[in-house]
Amino acid sequence: MPAGWSPRTRGGPMPDNGRKPDTVTLTIDGREVTVPKGTSLLDAAGDLGVEVPHYCYHPGLSAPAQCRICLVEVEGAPKLQPSCVTMAEDGQVVHTESASAVRMRKGVLEFYLVNHPLDCPICDMSGECKLQDYVFEEGRERGRGREPKRVFGRDDFGGDVLFYGDRCVMCTRCVRFMEEVARDPRLTVVERGSRAVIDTFFDHGLDGASYAGNIVDICPVGALVSKDFLHKARAWDLDHTESICPGCSQGCNIELHTRDNLVQRLKPRENQEVNGHWMCDYGRANYEWMNHPGRLEEPAVGRGADRRAAGWQEALASLFERLSDAGGAGVRIVGSPLASNEALAGLAALGGDVGRVEAAVFRSPRAPDEDPLPGFPTLVRRRDLAPNVDGAGILGFGRVGGDDGAG
Ligand code: SF4
Ligand code: SF4
Ligand code: FES
Repeated sequence: MPAGWSPRTRGGPMPDNGRKPDTVTLTIDGREVTVPKGTSLLDAAGDLGVEVPHYCYHPGLSAPAQCRICLVEVEGAPKLQPSCVTMAEDGQVVHTESASAVRMRKGVLEFYLVNHPLDCPICDMSGECKLQDYVFEEGRERGRGREPKRVFGRDDFGGDVLFYGDRCVMCTRCVRFMEEVARDPRLTVVERGSRAVIDTFFDHGLDGASYAGNIVDICPVGALVSKDFLHKARAWDLDHTESICPGCSQGCNIELHTRDNLVQRLKPRENQEVNGHWMCDYGRANYEWMNHPGRLEEPAVGRGADRRAAGWQEALASLFERLSDAGGAGVRIVGSPLASNEALAGLAALGGDVGRVEAAVFRSPRAPDEDPLPGFPTLVRRRDLAPNVDGAGILGFGRVGGDDGAG
């Protein structure tokens, strides 16, 4: 199984003062692990860096135990157990790699491939797809299916989301996210058996939903893809950089995915104290300005065609010279609510050194309302659509202009 499986998040942090009565100790693949009571075998294995394959389980959602890909062997149990809903117990001995567990998972994977198209070369999820990964790790080398595959085609779900029904593994993560986290149930499973497919309700798609982009993130395969990112880049060509969303003052933890130093998409990065596993669609879509060729990336002096890059010393000296040339006229400073406290404090100090500051101001767009995520209310798309409006105010900058950020 892939190494480096990320540690459990659902059970919370382990106590750091040794063994407590509310913990259990078990053995997984020959290694002992102590976890809080109520931890699933899948999460306990995760603590050891062992990823048990899983589709329907997601730490931010309920666990319906329906995909059956997470089967493991528990000594003394009459049959293989779904590790996502089997809780760790004291003295349990678990084998994730026993012959029977691997054989059963291989069989489950073969069923998933009965109708799955060979789309990897054209699928946006290729390179980060859990069907691709698990089949590569544990699947059969050759498929045995000879029947024609069921075909659903492509459906526009509205918003930024496209649905490729043939690729779906029916884990229902998307349906449960919309029901449990967004509390905006716009998706469902229609039909039964091999004809079962995810669908919207009549023509009420995802248009206007505020958090639907998260279903693209949690879809374990390439069934739900972003229209904005469609065929833009291959997953293995992207660099990942940890960052903070600049879309509003919530400060969601994100990753910037870049290629050739251009931002291709934003993805949420887990932080249970700020945004959980999620981010809003407004913030997700708000990145093209970062790629604008006119952005200053270093200090510069001169105007128009004469503008050239300069070091900070030269740029500041030039600024002082020009301000001195302004004679006794007053100085107005325009700060940015996108800037850090340190940068704004530096700008305010610069104004103090120059003297004659008449006003220090900033502009920032503001939404009519806040937009909380009902199933994870810690996350709220804030009214202030810039990350550091409060910092700018505290550091002496006054807001000017309208709620559109202009004027
Ligand atoms: S579309 Fe994706 S998330 Fe939804 S059920 Fe299918 S595989 Fe799961
Ligand atoms: S809530 Fe704010 S910080 Fe979080 S993703 Fe949306 S815009 Fe970005
Ligand atoms: S992850 Fe356990 S049954 Fe789906």
